[in-house]
Amino acid sequence: MSFSADQFLSGSLRKREEQNALRKLVINNELVDFCSNDYLGFARNKALLNATETEIASISEKNEVLNLAGSTGSRLLAGNSAYAEELEKKIAAFHHADAGLIYNSGYDANVGLFSAIGQKDTTIIYDELIHASVHDGIRMSHATAFMFRHSDTVHLEERLKVAQGLVYVAVESIYSMDGDTAPLKQIAALCRKYNANLIVDEAHATGVSTNQGRGVVQQLQIEKEVFARIHTFGKALGCHGAAVLGSELLRSYLINFSRAFIYTTALPVKSLVAINQAYQFLENSHNTLLELHRAIGLFKSLLSETVKAHLIDSNSAIQCIVVSGNENVKKLALALRQAGFDVRPILSPTVPKGKERLRICIHSFNTDLEIRRLCELLNKNYMR
Ligand SMILES: Cc1ncc(COP(=O)(O)O)c(C=O)c1O
Repeated sequence: MSFSADQFLSGSLRKREEQNALRKLVINNELVDFCSNDYLGFARNKALLNATETEIASISEKNEVLNLAGSTGSRLLAGNSAYAEELEKKIAAFHHADAGLIYNSGYDANVGLFSAIGQKDTTIIYDELIHASVHDGIRMSHATAFMFRHSDTVHLEERLKVAQGLVYVAVESIYSMDGDTAPLKQIAALCRKYNANLIVDEAHATGVSTNQGRGVVQQLQIEKEVFARIHTFGKALGCHGAAVLGSELLRSYLINFSRAFIYTTALPVKSLVAINQAYQFLENSHNTLLELHRAIGLFKSLLSETVKAHLIDSNSAIQCIVVSGNENVKKLALALRQAGFDVRPILSPTVPKGKERLRICIHSFNTDLEIRRLCELLNKNYMR
């Protein structure tokens, strides 16, 4: 090899720059939030933070030997606690599942699940827009994998007809980059017909779906037809971590074979308390959820016909406007940012070329005035 590691790094970054796709970290505390996944404002909710701190103090008082700040090991070694096991039971019950297993993040949950279930005689069929963490889990597995066109049940059936061995189908209930909802009933029916196991990532439905944020699977009452669900806590729940929900058998299997669960330090009790409190808040957030869905409706109603024609169909908090080309979408995002709104461009290769977009996240706390002003700017600046 005739070039150094630094030459390789800078060459790769230069290529990104040439494609107008160089990623940079930015801090934007001043701008109006139309970007974060904090759909219900839980991450900034002082009452929730206070409740979490009070609970931590109370546990600490009662139990001096408990390691609150750090779990001190993997769940299989020193990192397990009665609190973690109780919380898993509670989350599973909330989502009407038999059992749950907590992972340190949604990324870990998907990597840990798919890498563990994907054996040599396994086929995993996944939606083309499935999250990167599922791709990475599949890549780490020994399974054969095929994609099907986004939410295209005809294409899915074609794949199912020829799939070999033990078959899994991987979809998101609400897609992270488009905000649209999967046709889960039809997908579940196909899985039943072809004896395939359905896995649904509910990251962007958790806390958002109109059934108290319990997820789309529960909304459609198809829990029994789903092999596994992934609920993440870093989005509407405003904290961190995730759970894989399914049968007791699946939970035991993951404890034994899921490397992303086994070979890592578990979440500390203080993080588990935050998750627990967020779920308690969610149960009492009927009005906040109504606010969120009212804000989503208001946003959609205020867009001009021209902009609406490029809006990806979505009833979720994720609203995307396609602006073809990295240069164009960056320009529009910049105009919005200069007006005080934090809206991020999603560039290719994160999304396919020509499908670059503004990804606008609506929150329960966005005021009518903020939404109105944002829509005015979009209507005025779109395609200029
Ligand atoms: C659909 C989906 N699954 C999983 C994840 C990963 O979740 P986390 O942020 O908790 O790692 C995300 C977050 O980007 C996501 O959008």
